[in-house]
Amino acid sequence: MNTLLELKDLSIDYLVKDGKLSAVNSLNLSINRGEIFALVGESGCGKTTVAFSIMRLLQGNEQTSGEILFEGEDLLTLEDGRIEKIRGKHIGMIFQNPLDSLNPVYTSGNQVAEAILLDEKDKHVVMEKLLKLYEDVRIPDAPERIHSYPHELSGGMRQRVMIAMMLSRNPQLLIADEPTTALDVTVEAQILKLLKELRDDYGSAILLITHNFGIVAELADRVGIMYAGELVELADVVEIFHHPVHPYSKALMASLPRMTKEEGRLATLDGTVPRIIGEFKGCRFSNRCALAQKRCFVDTPSLLEIRPGHFVQCHNEEVLRGY
Ligand SMILES: Nc1ncnc2c1ncn2[C@@H]1O[C@H](COP(=O)(O)OP(=O)(O)O)[C@@H](O)[C@H]1O
Ligand SMILES: [Mg+2]
Repeated sequence: MNTLLELKDLSIDYLVKDGKLSAVNSLNLSINRGEIFALVGESGCGKTTVAFSIMRLLQGNEQTSGEILFEGEDLLTLEDGRIEKIRGKHIGMIFQNPLDSLNPVYTSGNQVAEAILLDEKDKHVVMEKLLKLYEDVRIPDAPERIHSYPHELSGGMRQRVMIAMMLSRNPQLLIADEPTTALDVTVEAQILKLLKELRDDYGSAILLITHNFGIVAELADRVGIMYAGELVELADVVEIFHHPVHPYSKALMASLPRMTKEEGRLATLDGTVPRIIGEFKGCRFSNRCALAQKRCFVDTPSLLEIRPGHFVQCHNEEVLRGY
């Protein structure tokens, strides 16, 4: 089977003061082996909630239903001991801010070596692997750099250390949650290129989470557009860039920074992603949608396959025909 990860009817509600906040609603998607799948949406769309649920890292104030099948095994019902083995070894995650995950009192090399030591006991082999990993993630002067503490490294170098730490276990799935948001654009481009090279060399699938449509084009094979906890469009990357259909996908794309100076502003969408508390009827995007019709406020749309492999969740016939 080519499918590595499959989310089936995944719903996650947070129990908050004013009720149940629907952070993820009936999400269905799958990621194939070696595939780079981008999950895109503004802040608050539920992307991190999805990532944390796969890692079983949610804090306990949530209610989850559905299935998260990893190699056919439901991660949601696994016992704690088993999930801890899968986490790190088979599924690795890197975060927006690597400083949060690195220990300030140990050298970077020491922390990567700790990860290698989980599978390899021979000290010489550990050192060899450590230097090879630093090379693989393109950290120059590896024999020197392994002695640097996290605060002595730039943001880009820290993110490389995190990637090296994760790769040391050779995971089948790598979850990268906004991995370059804290970096400047040049370093961002380098890290994204690195992720792609690593997918090619190590064969890991990558779930790339981002609010920036721009970084998707270079990297992703398939793209899921998420809005207020739901997938509103899903297609391969060429299709989504040439034929975005959902009004939200189009708005996101229109927000891409333009290249010329005169046009260097962001075309943005009014309003923000709604917090959906309790029962909700209609389309979650309706209050921001310029094309919303009466039924969009009362009927809940479902994801339709408008072309092979291209899915859109919208009621508007014109939108769907406007392909
Ligand atoms: N631990 C939590 N408790 C309550 N609400 C949360 C928690 N984490 C996230 N949320 C809410 O869930 C929604 C989705 O958040 P999140 O998954 O962080 O989105 P994204 O990563 O796309 O920005 C938001 O409305 C957010 O405020
Ligand atoms: Mg997030």
